[in-house]
Amino acid sequence: MITVSTEPAYQSPAVTIATTLPQSGLDSTVLIVGVVSGDPDSPEATPTVLGSEFLSAEAVAEIEKALVALGAKGGAEQVTRLVAPSLGVGSVLAVGLGKPRDEWPADVIRKAAGVAARSLNGTEAVLTTLSEVDLEATVEGLILGSYRFVDYRSAKTAPKDKGLSSITVLASGKDAKKRAQRATAVATAVATARDFVNTPPSHLYPAEFAKRAKALGSSVGLEVEVLNRKALEEAGYGGIVGVGKGSSRPPRLVRLVHRSGRKDAKTVALVGKGITFDTGGISIKPAASMHHMTSDMGGAAAVIATVVLAAQLELPINVIATVPMAENMPSATAQRPGDVLTQYGGTTVEVLNTDAEGRLVLADAIVRACEDNPDYLIETSTLTGAQTVALGARIPGVMGSDEFRDRVAALSQSVGENGWPMPLPDELKDDLKSSVADLANVSAQRFAGMLVAGVYLREFVADGVQWVHLDVAGPAYNTGGPWGYTPKGGTGVPTRTMFAVLEDIADKG
Ligand code: BES
Ligand code: MN
Ligand code: ZN
Repeated sequence: MITVSTEPAYQSPAVTIATTLPQSGLDSTVLIVGVVSGDPDSPEATPTVLGSEFLSAEAVAEIEKALVALGAKGGAEQVTRLVAPSLGVGSVLAVGLGKPRDEWPADVIRKAAGVAARSLNGTEAVLTTLSEVDLEATVEGLILGSYRFVDYRSAKTAPKDKGLSSITVLASGKDAKKRAQRATAVATAVATARDFVNTPPSHLYPAEFAKRAKALGSSVGLEVEVLNRKALEEAGYGGIVGVGKGSSRPPRLVRLVHRSGRKDAKTVALVGKGITFDTGGISIKPAASMHHMTSDMGGAAAVIATVVLAAQLELPINVIATVPMAENMPSATAQRPGDVLTQYGGTTVEVLNTDAEGRLVLADAIVRACEDNPDYLIETSTLTGAQTVALGARIPGVMGSDEFRDRVAALSQSVGENGWPMPLPDELKDDLKSSVADLANVSAQRFAGMLVAGVYLREFVADGVQWVHLDVAGPAYNTGGPWGYTPKGGTGVPTRTMFAVLEDIADKG
């Protein structure tokens, strides 16, 4: 008999708030404290525990003495494990915060919490005073750093793959509970996006992705609509159908709607690229890194996670997600370089390179999204290798309407996802001229590839809609080692940027 475990391999840690340091029951708990590297101008500087109203002066002195004995300096993200018997905890993990500051940027705390969580994965219970500085950043960092993806391991889960089980944050403010819940919801949304990205293309193909998005959306009360290939063909979604036709696994278009229920609420459209695997199609990619293209639905993953989060946290705006899903494969039924297709809405396109497929599915989705007359449109995609050439693996390119672009980039930086504004020069449109159709899908020259893709998308945004395009080709998927609160694999970027923008619009319009 085969026994299948019904227990999930990994569960997000439970978060509890404590208003005082528990006096007992901490034997197997690890206390996480932040330490500052001391006066940078003094060569004898020793690390100091970041001021804590929750720890006695003796306990702080004990920790600081141990740090000196161990040669710990309190450099940013350095971790030191020590015992401090007077505290009654099993052990202490001191995480460095770097030089002293008057204000602690949220991402310094978030990264420190993330590093601490990663070094403690497999630990049952942690308790922390970092939350005194920034409760939300601490909770987000701990949950994000604790993330594991072990769904496809057959072997018994290793302890470290269990992440953290329980997190207790010390906090005194009266709205602490609400803030911790919000941070937990945000981190859980990021984990949802990461799970989608990390699910292999064998298991996540358009129909399955649509099914999971629908189940998730329905569970939080979103209106859900799924168009299958036949419906897409009939309605004229030439981009989605064209990209999907090389695959035995047909494309989908998923729509998830969060309605605020308020009369004058703003409407924000979200659009995310959902290529469940990108071989390049007939313009096939080289083998070397092709497996990274499991991440080519990172935009879709983040968009789905964001609209679900908007519903969970009852944002007082309307949010409508439009998510095209397709698998870009070479086959006898695939589109060819030189084919002409008609995007939803009527624009004809000469497909000179089948590997520039993202813009084809996105153009259809953008036109559909604009039919809802949104005030704002946020589109995100793993769109171009040129994004990583220009900005590297950690910085999303932010393009679009000047004012909204700068607002989105600033918010992205404030949440630590670090989007950077980039231009959409008008002259690049000339590079997309086709001799047979309205547009070509690629430019003949190789410069400014990220911007050319943005210029292509701009053609499909309705007049009067404030819009941005977030190119997250590098940032959505970490091909290097883990850092801060970012694991290897799916990162969940730009979920927190988009959610920050939605909150800002809910607040200021
Ligand atoms: N999905 C890729 C972009 C990508 C590259 C994402 C690296 C993540 C990491 C996209 O569909 C693509 O293939 N873009 C082409 C565009 C080119 C043909 C104009 C590219 O970047 O090479
Ligand atoms: Mn491609
Ligand atoms: Zn792609």
